[in-house]
Amino acid sequence: MINVAIDGPAGAGKSTVAKAVASRMGLIYLDTGAMYRATAYTALSRGIDVTDEDSVKAMLEDMSMDIAYENGVQQIYVNGVNTTPYLREHRMSKAASDISALPPVRYKMVELQRLFAASHDVVLDGRDIGTFVLPEANCKFYMTATAEERADRRYKELVEKGQQVDRDALLKDIMQRDYNDSHREVAPLKQAEDAEYLDTTNMSIDEVVQHVMRRIREKVDPHPAEAPSEVEAKEENKASKGSDRIKKYYKPLKSYGFYKFMRLILVPVQKLFWPIKLVNPQNAVKGRAIYICNHYSKVDTFLPLVKLFKKEPHILAKSELFEVPISAWFLYHMGAIPVRRGEADIDCVKCVLKLLKDDKQLMMFPEGTRNKQGTQQMAEIKSGAARFAIKTKATVVPMMYYSKPRLFRRNWLYIGEPFTLEQFYGARDVEGRHAATEFIAQKLDETRKALNEYVETLKDKKGKPGKEK
Ligand code: DC
Repeated sequence: MINVAIDGPAGAGKSTVAKAVASRMGLIYLDTGAMYRATAYTALSRGIDVTDEDSVKAMLEDMSMDIAYENGVQQIYVNGVNTTPYLREHRMSKAASDISALPPVRYKMVELQRLFAASHDVVLDGRDIGTFVLPEANCKFYMTATAEERADRRYKELVEKGQQVDRDALLKDIMQRDYNDSHREVAPLKQAEDAEYLDTTNMSIDEVVQHVMRRIREKVDPHPAEAPSEVEAKEENKASKGSDRIKKYYKPLKSYGFYKFMRLILVPVQKLFWPIKLVNPQNAVKGRAIYICNHYSKVDTFLPLVKLFKKEPHILAKSELFEVPISAWFLYHMGAIPVRRGEADIDCVKCVLKLLKDDKQLMMFPEGTRNKQGTQQMAEIKSGAARFAIKTKATVVPMMYYSKPRLFRRNWLYIGEPFTLEQFYGARDVEGRHAATEFIAQKLDETRKALNEYVETLKDKKGKPGKEK
């Protein structure tokens, strides 16, 4: 059976994408959110409080749910009555979110969903499909977009339908549902380790659909005889040309002459504009190592390079930056390696493993994104650094900026205690990688604490931080 799982928060475009993919690939689409909505509808129509677990549990005992397809459109029957026309009412969204947090509801729905998936080639969309309902699904996606973008999409959709809505209220609503769905005890909304992360904020629906179909074909190839439509073929051609073009940047550079030349310019620029105090330079180990660092701004990518990697830099940079030829050329000659974020980028992995095995040093930003708020709190650490460090037994060197690099002020870059992931070297499974990633996150936390203490002592000695020369 083909089982495709698409999870993500409300309004990320999951159902639109899942429907289009299912219809073009001859799969069945199961909207699991509608099942929770139908349960909420049943409770509301019987006057049952959707947060009262005992009453809802009693209701479930004599509630039967059947899923049917009429003219290709999913219908949900509860005790023989079609509830579908009422499920998209606004009040049902909040009620479904509340009722879906109750364990007896989840267990019943999950059982139905597993039964359905066991006997159909299916695309399911929901919150917990990849993590809980179908952990063995062939293909998993975690689709999201910023809360603002999701509220805007919903706003446009409702306005087009002639409804009057308050955009701020929609945004508040979405944020509340995100919170509810990701903080409930049983099977909360979470990205599965092996799911592909897809941020659709700047993507059109068609781009997402093409991308998802391409991935499914790569993994399961359900109907190989079926030729893609003309539009699909064009899109695929464009995408594969893009990735072919990027492929050449995975080849190791023959000479770092350009980088050495650029250092002649960058070192004085750095000294003048972003004076930086490297704390604990003795922790910068030689030989095979992965330097990991928090990431605030574009500037913080080049400061450690000019300070630490005097001969040969190797740094991971998002592949989007390689789409413009001139920027690709420049980055490549500055030692950047493209990484396609949110997917298992085999070309990048091969390139990194080779350079670490050659005892070179890699620098990466394990959050995979910039911290635009400028807070000390880091985003979730991705598993890439742990995978590389386990596979190559490289030393990991944690680094931490005190704050976003500031112009004409002294900035601190703290080098923490180097460590290895020796205790995880045997770990090849998801849990092992997860534990190793947690360990790295802990080490980064310790580095942040040590850095803050260091800055506090400076403050005590010299007054305000950042002013002294
Ligand atoms: O996707 P939707 O907005 O129709 O989902 C309605 C609610 O149902 C949502 O707030 C969370 C819940 N839900 C869930 O808990 N698990 C799923 N697999 C799907 C939906």
